[in-house]
Amino acid sequence: MVPSPRTFILGSLSLLSLYALLHLPSSAPAPSPIPKEPGEPIPDGQFTRHIVAVGDLHGDLVNMKKVLKMSGVLNETGDWSGNVDFFVQTGDMIDRGDDTLEMFALMDKLRGQALDAGGRVLSHLGNHEVMNAIGDWRYVPQSEIATFGSVAARQQMLSSGWLGRSWRTNYTITSRLPLHPSLGPPNADYDPQASPNPLSHAALSFVHGGLSPTYSNLTPYPSAINTLGLSLLRRLQDRVQPPPHPPNPYPGLPREATRAEHELYEADGPVWYRGWATEPDSFVCPAVEGVLAKTGVRRLIMGHTPNFENMVSRCDGKIIIIDTGISKAYGGVLSALSITYTLTPQTPSRFLAASNTRAWTEREVIKAIYEDKTDVLVDSTREIRGSW
Ligand SMILES: *[C@@H]1O[C@H](CO)[C@@H](O)[C@H](O)[C@H]1NC(C)=O
Ligand SMILES: *[C@@H]1O[C@H](CO)[C@@H](O)[C@H](O)[C@H]1NC(C)=O
Repeated sequence: MVPSPRTFILGSLSLLSLYALLHLPSSAPAPSPIPKEPGEPIPDGQFTRHIVAVGDLHGDLVNMKKVLKMSGVLNETGDWSGNVDFFVQTGDMIDRGDDTLEMFALMDKLRGQALDAGGRVLSHLGNHEVMNAIGDWRYVPQSEIATFGSVAARQQMLSSGWLGRSWRTNYTITSRLPLHPSLGPPNADYDPQASPNPLSHAALSFVHGGLSPTYSNLTPYPSAINTLGLSLLRRLQDRVQPPPHPPNPYPGLPREATRAEHELYEADGPVWYRGWATEPDSFVCPAVEGVLAKTGVRRLIMGHTPNFENMVSRCDGKIIIIDTGISKAYGGVLSALSITYTLTPQTPSRFLAASNTRAWTEREVIKAIYEDKTDVLVDSTREIRGSW
């Protein structure tokens, strides 16, 4: 929920107390004058952040609207409802269907409405968006090209048109989304040198394919990946558009593309990697720990590798794969991931106010929402404690 003015103020109080208790570096805002007398009441009020994430949508506006309505992102008239704080889409909205233009226009409308309402939309480029920018149109139906008018009009739209400009400006390859605002805004880089605090990994990673343990440009996260993604996209959009494949030969990346830009688009790169979906637990669960530590997140959330029955949660929800083949091109199940984070101050009577200790209860409830049911994937509670 977007906090009411009252909860917002109270939420800010507990936030500022956290700054004091966690001894953030001197660049952090100065701590507020929180009550320091033993026995003084701990500020009341709870912080809540509600995030909805949706996977591959492949050209199907009807099913896109259905999943956004059933997860509370859209209201009945198809506008931003104000009932979620963040809506995340993990890429692959294009290809295999005809509704490209209307779907990206809806995302742009929601982005603006969300900002006006104090929310945010986070959009990602999947391998299919990048394929289209390359000129690899193998999965583009002729009927979809007709919605643009012509091949040339489609090329123009994907490069210098409103859609291509929206990709450059408002789409990234990956996102790091903090669960709590004390960790900064979305996509602020994780700083592994900052003094450790109990909330430092209270963030989520979103990407289309996956952050492979062997990918060489993981950090600083997420800017290293997003900088490469933008430079590659610009090269693709700024070149004279090659005649699309098929029937023409595969154009590939521009000659000037760097080694790192190639790697971004290779099988182990973030838009194509499938290992978190396909490798056995014996590999995945130990390997994910290193990626979580380097990126400063608790969970990796991604699309790309569909399971047509359900979302897939692995290694206690450290990996969540949300592509369920929503588009009618696949006929999988309609789904949306709902993440509710709460930080609740504990009552002074339970928590040793006399010894200057403060405590909060942190809870993450992560649910897979389907048309006919909801599954709880994660319900995890932690206690955060400190003294001042
Ligand atoms: C949906 O949201 C829009 C924009 O905030 C608003 O104008 C409209 O009345 C809402 N519709 C419903 C049914 O609540
Ligand atoms: C990016 O999103 C913002 C917020 O909705 C919007 O004002 C801006 O026009 C978008 N930029 C492009 C190039 O689409």
